[in-house]
Amino acid sequence: MTTYLLALESSCDETAASVISFEQEGPPTLRSSLVASQVEIHARYGGVVPEIASRAHLEVALPLIQDALLEAGLQRKDLSAIAVTRGPGLIGALLVGLQIAKSIAFAWKLPLIGVNHLAGHLEAVFLEASYPSFPFLALLVSGGHTTIYRVDGHEQYKHLGSTRDDAAGEAFDKAAKMLGLGYPGGVYIDRLAQQGDARRFSFPRAMLKQGLDFSFSGLKTACRTELASLEQPLDDQTLADFCASYQEAIVDVLWQKVERALEQEGLDQLVLTGGVAANSRLRAFFQQRCDETQRKLFLPSKRFCTDNAAMIAAAAVTPFRQGRFESLDLNATGKLPLDPNALPRGPRRRKKN
Ligand code: KG4
Ligand code: ZN
Repeated sequence: MTTYLLALESSCDETAASVISFEQEGPPTLRSSLVASQVEIHARYGGVVPEIASRAHLEVALPLIQDALLEAGLQRKDLSAIAVTRGPGLIGALLVGLQIAKSIAFAWKLPLIGVNHLAGHLEAVFLEASYPSFPFLALLVSGGHTTIYRVDGHEQYKHLGSTRDDAAGEAFDKAAKMLGLGYPGGVYIDRLAQQGDARRFSFPRAMLKQGLDFSFSGLKTACRTELASLEQPLDDQTLADFCASYQEAIVDVLWQKVERALEQEGLDQLVLTGGVAANSRLRAFFQQRCDETQRKLFLPSKRFCTDNAAMIAAAAVTPFRQGRFESLDLNATGKLPLDPNALPRGPRRRKKN
């Protein structure tokens, strides 16, 4: 029997709704995936304003859900469950999505599934025609996370290392802000870097000799110092070279840590996921290195790397199959580790998930 599941995502600045279908076994099939981005609203502030994000989610969530059903060619009576992101993320933004999902669950008599947003990023790869077998290694790189996981099965995520300060996405966004580029910065740096020479400026690669953790805060400082030494405004080529060199430092560190993790775990399958995994240089560099070292790289398409609800739906398949549903007093949680055994190390400033 085919199961249809609706999912809602509202943990940061994208409101997203999706419908998937699945059978008793096997990967899900995408029926619809809609994302209402708030990027234009937040761009004028140079970053996400939590209160504005919450209000914007409230305005668009219901019409978006209707459109997701329409696009899937379904009616509410066809649905078997509703899934929603319960954390981590901006608490106000999460609460809006959660309350809407709970109301729908109550009104439409659907079981409710609460999903960890990070599990969504890790399960996104199963929406693709080509996906890995277990076990595999995953690098989750987003606006608030830079974490390496060993994945032994659905919902079996072992934390191997993560950033001690800024996430890779933050490193992109903060540098872009210093350079006077738009928000979110990663996209602008990615685009400009394509015309640049990555060897022109040298940026630090932190903690290369230490385990599987990352640190990107020094890179941000180096960016500020280097920028201050240059004549302003930067000419087009200097700006492109600067972006390319900065981006290369991030990509280089990510690869070196991932390669160490692959060796340590004896794995040869790698999944790259999260918003920063949309970066074209990161994708090309990882592909090249994996080809050279006979490893298999699985890259979810860009629309499943950045925040979306299809990944939340995909992560809800296992709890649905196991009959694990939430009561209507489920609460949202701003900080929600994926691997409960992972102890937070060092200062963390997670503004986004
Ligand atoms: O996963 P995501 O959409 O939201 C979070 O869960 O954080 O990731 C957003 C992050 C932002 O920091 C953004 O700058 C970055 O992903 N990003 C990129 C690119 N597209 C999005 N970073 C580098 N290159 C890109 N093309
Ligand atoms: Zn995300």
